[in-house]
Amino acid sequence: MDRKDVGILAMDIYFPPTCVQQEALEAHDGVSKGKYTIGLGQDCMAFCTELEDVISMSLTVVNSLLKKYQIDPRQIGRLEVGSETVIDKSKSIKTWLMQIFEEYGNTDIEGVDSTNACYGGTAALLNCANWVESSSWDGRYGLVVCTDSAVYAEGPARPTGGAAAIAMLIGPNAPITFESKLRGTHMAHVYDFYKPNLASEYPVVDGKLSQTCYLMALDSCYRRFCSKYENLEGKQFSISDVDYFVFHSPYNKLVQKSFARLYFNDFLRNCSSVENDAREKLQPFSDLTSEESYQSRELEKVSQQLAKHFYEEKVQPTTLLPKQIGNMYTASLYAALLSVIHNKHSNLEGRRVVMFSYGSGLSSTMFSFKLQDGHDSFNLSNIVSVLNISKKLESRHVFPPEKFVENLKLMEHRYGGKDFETSKDTNLLSPGTFYLTKVDSMYRRYYNKVGDDIATGKIETTPVENGH
Ligand code: ACO
Repeated sequence: MDRKDVGILAMDIYFPPTCVQQEALEAHDGVSKGKYTIGLGQDCMAFCTELEDVISMSLTVVNSLLKKYQIDPRQIGRLEVGSETVIDKSKSIKTWLMQIFEEYGNTDIEGVDSTNACYGGTAALLNCANWVESSSWDGRYGLVVCTDSAVYAEGPARPTGGAAAIAMLIGPNAPITFESKLRGTHMAHVYDFYKPNLASEYPVVDGKLSQTCYLMALDSCYRRFCSKYENLEGKQFSISDVDYFVFHSPYNKLVQKSFARLYFNDFLRNCSSVENDAREKLQPFSDLTSEESYQSRELEKVSQQLAKHFYEEKVQPTTLLPKQIGNMYTASLYAALLSVIHNKHSNLEGRRVVMFSYGSGLSSTMFSFKLQDGHDSFNLSNIVSVLNISKKLESRHVFPPEKFVENLKLMEHRYGGKDFETSKDTNLLSPGTFYLTKVDSMYRRYYNKVGDDIATGKIETTPVENGH
């Protein structure tokens, strides 16, 4: 079996059509103007109403990907879900998705859910890619789903929410190919963001600590990544060797700071990517301990200014969806990848994209993709036309902040509940979207699909043989 160029063959994203503008939220929350839009760098935030959740979003996106790429559900051999939104402490989201495959007689699908804050999607992706590269691969596709609804209690973290699900088809001869030897990982025990209260959907979060942990993990992963590259290639690695950097994006300001941090790392490593005049400006910070460097506002400011032209070129094209949708937890990183594919698809052949995945608690990995012309329907242009991002963004319904808060209150009340029915008002949902209809007295959840008149997850994919 051909297992060359293993990576992502196809992608699709679903995000709720309901959102709130960050500017309106600033006024509603009584914070200073610009705090969420400039201070956090966010434009808009998607959220689930009572009709949607991580299960419905993942059903919608998997169904949509299979249909749009004409994939026969029998061709899926592994399905992994990354999520940190807990609906059931035992039953995986993957088992929900099995409805789609059972209907085609395919129950022979390995994999369950992976959970560690925003990192679960990356764990799922690495598992699937490793499976395709392994001796247990049976020639079928892997499928990875990242699905999360990020909601926070009232306070400074609330504007950093969001919601989406992303599906990725994994196999050989991919247009988005892993550079498998280039990975740097950093894992540690910290309490920066966690969800110990099982009666609430909201996390406990130490915002400032989470920012520092993110940057420490980034430094560590980048150093390991560079040293692996240098051992393999026998030459120094720097940001100049990368066309696009894709970061996990809780909010855009942290992405700006992260890229500046990589630039500072290149300065400390004496790389030619840092020009002489920039070197002079960074010199005063060269003796800071790492701890001091994370706290230095001046270093943050200077390195962001110096790295700005590189940021515009290598990072800005990745920021569209995370700024428009907000933090999608496990899906955030892959929404940023989709953004650069959307913005630059005609000019990506041979480009290197370096990804940084961070999940609080903490787990983090930096890894690399090479982009190339694909085969058959698996190519970057097809991903762009399937995504139809501009239309999806334009057709959203903007809710006033009061309605958003009201919705959160209803969800707080419903969380972990049983014996209720939803409004089933699907006016805002497009055909093919799954939605929650009720939770019965045994906590069993029921979903329907817009356009179906019967209450099942019946899918419309035409079975087409599409193997390797
Ligand atoms: N105009 C422009 N900028 C402003 C304004 C204004 N009117 N007011 C404040 N700001 C800036 C601040 O200067 C600051 O920017 P800086 O970091 O460059 O200095 C920024 O807005 C944020 O303001 P703060 O007062 O520093 O922070 P706040 O108390 O609002 O909390 C935080 C921000 C910590 C990100 C909070 O939203 C949070 O806890 N979010 C969840 C945790 C998180 O996302 N962590 C990231 C990694 S973990 C994960 O992915 C979940």
